[in-house]
Amino acid sequence: MIVVTGGAGFIGSNFVLDWCAQSDEAVLNIDKLTYAGNLENLQDLQGNTKHIFVQADIANGDLMRELFNKYQPRAIINFAAESHVDRSIHGPADFIQTNIVGTFQLLEAAKSYFKSLAPGPALAFRFLHVSTDEVYGSLSKIDPAFTEKKNFEPNSPYSASKAASDHLVRAYHHTYGLPVLTTNCSNNYGPYHFPEKLIPLMIVNALAGKNLPVYGDGQQIRDWLYVKDHCSAIRCVLQKGVTGETYNVGGWNEKPNLDIVHMVCDLLNEMRPRTDGKKYQEQITFVTDRPGHDRRYAIDASKIANELGWKPSETFETGIRKTLQWYLDNQQWVANVQSGAYKDWMNKHYVGHDKAN
Ligand code: NAD
Ligand code: TYD
Repeated sequence: MIVVTGGAGFIGSNFVLDWCAQSDEAVLNIDKLTYAGNLENLQDLQGNTKHIFVQADIANGDLMRELFNKYQPRAIINFAAESHVDRSIHGPADFIQTNIVGTFQLLEAAKSYFKSLAPGPALAFRFLHVSTDEVYGSLSKIDPAFTEKKNFEPNSPYSASKAASDHLVRAYHHTYGLPVLTTNCSNNYGPYHFPEKLIPLMIVNALAGKNLPVYGDGQQIRDWLYVKDHCSAIRCVLQKGVTGETYNVGGWNEKPNLDIVHMVCDLLNEMRPRTDGKKYQEQITFVTDRPGHDRRYAIDASKIANELGWKPSETFETGIRKTLQWYLDNQQWVANVQSGAYKDWMNKHYVGHDKAN
């Protein structure tokens, strides 16, 4: 079996659902169920004995060791993290605790489990760490895209904590021989994306008749990848990746935020027109920029393409249409995640976030 941590979050739950649909191999899903973890994402797996869920914190090293010894996984895939840049600006402590201390505890538990394995299972064992392109820092418009050789220059508490975790993973390979793999992926979008991040926030706010808050001038560039393509890249690296190596994963799809918001509005104008006949674009509102806002991320995903043969199967146009359709079909999921805790965040972050025009 495999262990997945953070498998009730956005990318983790997509990964677990795809895994269970494609493989007979069981999954032990370890998730603390923070505000971002949602068992409703995994509803389709109810009654599926190949999916075992344990609510636990990856920073609980003793429990992690116990679970690994009990279930004897051939691989551990670490998605668990605090993942939202704006939250890391308001309160970095949870990011240090989960992303750094949690990864450290998980590595310690994995190391002691790995050392207990017989030579055959030890040879096959993998620890795959899921990370982000944000560890590389910010690019100007003309800089080349990030390769795996780019030095780390993280700028937010989120990216700094992920960079620290990537360094720890690397060190456990070099020092202790733990067979690790790391993936650094660009911005994901798709089903089950928590509506605090750009694309799902724009969709749910548009449908609710609320403002679409664009930070600063909206010209910051991100490289977008459909979440199912990220999941296929992780399966590919798990199967074929060389231990100790890192692999960049991206969609070859750089777009300024404002273009993304316009695309979401255009598609909604077509798929769910406003009842007053107006365009969703009327809801766009420019607000005060994020402090320390990275200007551009761009991923060079040639290594994973050339060495492992992976490439994305969705274009942004096909992926964003699927995503919008999913949100239109799953309004109850949206209503359920917009609980008290969600409202508290929206009030704390956006109320008093000055309108810039
Ligand atoms: P998410 O915030 O949606 O989900 C994180 C999950 O981890 C949640 O289910 C949460 O309950 C769980 N979790 C948090 N702290 C935990 C702890 N201490 N112990 C156990 N579980 C804990 O995040 P996501 O967007 O699905 O991101 C998953 C991973 O992918 C993260 O490591 C993130 O850095 C990385 N990543 C995300 C993106 C993106 O665009 N979302 C891009 C590249 C990389
Ligand atoms: P986000 O989805 O938070 O991902 P990240 O910061 O990890 O890239 O934000 C994506 C981009 O969208 C980023 O440049 C910030 C911007 N953004 C807005 O303009 N308005 C918003 O309300 C949010 C949440 C993000």
